[in-house]
Amino acid sequence: MREFTGQVAFISGAGSGIGRGMAEAFAAAGMKLVLGDVDGESVRSVTTDLSVQGADALAVDLDVADRASWDAATQHAESKYGSVDILCNNAGVAGLSRPVEEIPIEEWRWMTDINLYGLVHGLQCFVPRLKAKGSGHIVNTSSIGGLVPLPKFSEYMAAKHAVVGLSGSVRQELEPFGIGVSVLCPGAVQTALGETTVRQRPGRATLAAARSDVVGDLPWRYIEPIDVGRLTLQGITDNQAFIFTHPENRAEVEAQFDAMRTAFDALPG
Ligand SMILES: NC(=O)c1ccc[n+]([C@@H]2O[C@H](COP(=O)([O-])OP(=O)(O)OC[C@H]3O[C@@H](n4cnc5c(N)ncnc54)[C@H](O)[C@@H]3O)[C@@H](O)[C@H]2O)c1
Repeated sequence: MREFTGQVAFISGAGSGIGRGMAEAFAAAGMKLVLGDVDGESVRSVTTDLSVQGADALAVDLDVADRASWDAATQHAESKYGSVDILCNNAGVAGLSRPVEEIPIEEWRWMTDINLYGLVHGLQCFVPRLKAKGSGHIVNTSSIGGLVPLPKFSEYMAAKHAVVGLSGSVRQELEPFGIGVSVLCPGAVQTALGETTVRQRPGRATLAAARSDVVGDLPWRYIEPIDVGRLTLQGITDNQAFIFTHPENRAEVEAQFDAMRTAFDALPG
């Protein structure tokens, strides 16, 4: 069993949802927490709640799409805790439900800046530090949509597939340095993702209205963020390449492999 007591975890998007669930689970395991979010009010509120419960936690302002913001947040974290052991690259936003040809290129860029480059900034900030320590773990939050695409969310699916790809690459790259890398692929989780996205998205329609025609008919089972936090902790302990949250997603992932198997079977010779 890995010993987490006294280890320092830096979690992006910790002001709500899965990031908050990770913070709660990690605090229960005795970790010190650096909680970053673009919504300063919410992350300070989470930090206060956890501190009242006895956790050692620091709130930092962080816009993951901005490298300078990562540098400032990291300096703040290091001035309090010295160094960070675990990075959870978790902050993200959702997409609206639209056919691919109707998604403005500016929205592809907005989504990619947060859901892909946001993680890249986190890696470029922390990988040199973890290499210097010779230990650590990184968890990148993708989605089950990073393996099994859902129609009409192409910019979200593209970013989340990219997170799976980069996590696999970086996992192999960092293994010789004693650093583990896991990609978290949650199914449906009861969070404020829709509201957050509406609040932060540049302009226009409500996500709830745009989403209802796709999400409304899907038999999704929503789980609580704290359960994702506990599964993430287990995934770090076991150094799992993938951290899943819903056993029922297995069949969808296997269907993807079946399609690939069929394509290989169709090859001549
Ligand atoms: N909720 C789900 O069903 C689900 C499923 C699969 C994957 N995910 C992924 O989980 C991650 C967390 O989402 P959630 O569901 O907890 O949503 P959430 O909205 O409850 O929490 C996301 C947090 O990220 C913060 N954030 C957004 N943009 C940011 C930025 N530029 N810089 C820093 N912080 C920023 C928000 O302010 C918010 O506090 C996302 O990457 C999301 O894509 C969620």
